[in-house]
Amino acid sequence: MPRARIIGTGSYLPEQVLTNHDLEERVETSDAWIVERTGIRERHIAAATEQCSDLAIAASRRAIAAAGIAATEIDLVLVASATPDMAFPSTACLVQQALGCGPVPAFDLSAACSGFVYALTVGDQFIRGGAAKTVLVIGSEVLSRIVDWSDRTTCVLFGDGAGAVILQATDSGHGLLSSHLHAEGRLADLLMVAAPGKRHPGTGEVFAIEGALIQMRGNETFRVAVRTLGEAVGEALEANNMAPEEVDWLIPHQANIRIIEATAKRLGLPMEQVVVNVDRVGNTSAASIPIALDEAVRDGRLQEGQTVLLEAFGGGLTWGAVVMRW
Ligand code: UT7
Repeated sequence: MPRARIIGTGSYLPEQVLTNHDLEERVETSDAWIVERTGIRERHIAAATEQCSDLAIAASRRAIAAAGIAATEIDLVLVASATPDMAFPSTACLVQQALGCGPVPAFDLSAACSGFVYALTVGDQFIRGGAAKTVLVIGSEVLSRIVDWSDRTTCVLFGDGAGAVILQATDSGHGLLSSHLHAEGRLADLLMVAAPGKRHPGTGEVFAIEGALIQMRGNETFRVAVRTLGEAVGEALEANNMAPEEVDWLIPHQANIRIIEATAKRLGLPMEQVVVNVDRVGNTSAASIPIALDEAVRDGRLQEGQTVLLEAFGGGLTWGAVVMRW
């Protein structure tokens, strides 16, 4: 059976940078508090003219170039996002058209910060099942549009950006070895954006609707994240009969440096083997893993044959882990 291998990565960060010091002017917070509690120093913010699809297209073009393929070779487009351009058409359809892909299937996937790990798994399944050979998987977010800029408990956390990968069928020993996904709807109210959904029909003024912004019970979310991610990485290694010391790189969802450190500690992995960019990028939800992955590929940290562990956690609640041989 073929498995899916990442043959190209790309990412895009909007030009505007918002520092912790900038945030000190907006809400009662301090650079020291944000750095100590989250590890974040700055994040990127999309221009008013930039939509989720624009970020996704820019990241995808770089991934396509890195893979050395033509857009017409792509036979499935997947976008993971909590901030799509529109309810429909999907952002994936907009990306497919802009890139000049053929009339191939394209759809969005909603799993909040776990979106990329979920979408990667869907792409892998299409390839394993023989329905696709080359898949474009994107995580793209303009979270700045759903952040409550008056709420210091959340506005310091999030940023905008996109990351993309090209998955291709391979019979080599490289590629995705396993994937484990989970969800616990019982904990849906820990982290949510309630509107616009049909439960909150609202008016044409989307951003005036109550509940259109991120609401999070941060401390409880933090505790569940540390526990479930610890379990997820354990499950991933066990499924591959792998010892933690066989992992070369951990590429975690970049929500909070303390959550990342807790997971690395659970694995007994030194932080030198963890790809971290939360300090410069903040939490970009579904985009965070592919952005971090692209950085590690481009700066030469990831080397062929190495074992890579991805893990993510987010609203839903959702979480999951993927093991790959690079
Ligand atoms: O992406 C996927 C899901 N998201 C996450 O995984 C995020 C998980 N949660 C977190 O990362 C952390 O819970 C936060 C960073 C959001 C908060 O850190 P914490 O250590 O859990 O702080 P806390 O919520 O317990 O708040 C401690 C204190 C509170 O003050 P009092 O009640 O002790 O007087 C907060 O009001 O810190 C206060 N506080 C702030 N102070 C300065 C909360 N936000 C801020 C802020 N600046 N920005």
